[in-house]
Amino acid sequence: MLTETSSKARGLADLPPVVNDSLLALIAMCDADPRPEKIDVGVGVFRDGAGNTPILKVIKGAEQRLVDTQKTKAYLGSAGDKRFAELLRPILLGHHADDERIAGLQTPGGCGALRLGFELIATANPKARVFIGTPTWPNHPPIVRAVGLTTVEYPYYERGQGAIRFEDMLDALRSGEPGDVALLHGCCHNPTGADLDEAQWRQVRDVVVERGLFPLIDIAYQGFGRGLDEDAYGVRLMLDSCDEVIVAQSCDKNFSVYRDRVGSLWVKTGSRDATATAMGHVFQRAREMWSMPPDHGAAAVHIVLEDADLRERWLAELAGMRDRINSVRQRIAAADPRLAFIGRQFGMFSMLPLSKEQVLKLREEQAIYMADSGRFNVVGMGDAQIDRFIAAVVGAMDS
Ligand SMILES: Cc1ncc(COP(=O)(O)O)c(C=O)c1O
Repeated sequence: MLTETSSKARGLADLPPVVNDSLLALIAMCDADPRPEKIDVGVGVFRDGAGNTPILKVIKGAEQRLVDTQKTKAYLGSAGDKRFAELLRPILLGHHADDERIAGLQTPGGCGALRLGFELIATANPKARVFIGTPTWPNHPPIVRAVGLTTVEYPYYERGQGAIRFEDMLDALRSGEPGDVALLHGCCHNPTGADLDEAQWRQVRDVVVERGLFPLIDIAYQGFGRGLDEDAYGVRLMLDSCDEVIVAQSCDKNFSVYRDRVGSLWVKTGSRDATATAMGHVFQRAREMWSMPPDHGAAAVHIVLEDADLRERWLAELAGMRDRINSVRQRIAAADPRLAFIGRQFGMFSMLPLSKEQVLKLREEQAIYMADSGRFNVVGMGDAQIDRFIAAVVGAMDS
């Protein structure tokens, strides 16, 4: 409470400026560029051969059905659409789907799931440190810090080699204390595209088990890499071996519903009762933050997964997106031996072996927009732009 003797209250005018998210700044810069030939490979959405991010046909159909049949928009509760989570369960958990020690709920996208997962960890163990790979998706560290947990970096990727710094990663994780969190990308690593292979996942699992670490897996691109089951290998392996696991999942990419904010959080503990108690905390945190998740996108995904025909058609549309990602990767990889590593990576992102100066030059002289780090979206461009992109990148590497 302010008293006559207290110093002047601080107001909103006293706030320091925020350093903008560099990727959002890049999108704004590209939008403002009038050059018609501009190429936007900074963006984080799938684009088809024509350069568009269309609404999937199955989602359009499901939305129409929703408009025609939905009878109420009454509140659903903090868990959101429970049937949505049930339908997603086997897709994500595979042979763990029947494990009653695992519970899940709908969240506002993968971001909501990450925040809620870390809220749960901070509630249980405020001293936990979170091991985060370098580099990682730029929103990971702020989400972790927002719940008051500290971050520790583990080396993940060597840009010059186009390879995972696997031994360094393991060594860093070995320095973790029991209860510290290992944040891992389930598949299609953002920003590097460098995924752990199955043998590497098993070695990471061994360290996690030996050191008593808490695996938290962020899986935002299931189905964009090798296939739905293949991409969930790491999630399922950790569930095989660990009593406590958290998985933050997103449907925003694999159903192409980005702005509708569709995701889910999954919590495993050593017993059904402990999971029920943990979920009580999860619901409480969700209630404090967003009360309940937005319904529309999850309702459309629910309709798709419930209907055998729509589900088949979704799998085909997903395979179409995956095939485009992988074929553009092969095309870039074949252009120059220095880009060959791109053909061995997965998902939408890879990092080009370019300096910040070379990236800026591409932006200024060729209207090619990518993150300063050289991260680019292999399907950010339409088919007609790929040759010019490759020529410009090879030219930049030669300069
Ligand atoms: C690694 C990673 N995790 C989580 C997310 C969050 O996805 P959503 O849009 O569903 O919040 C993204 C989105 O770009 C991502 O790249």
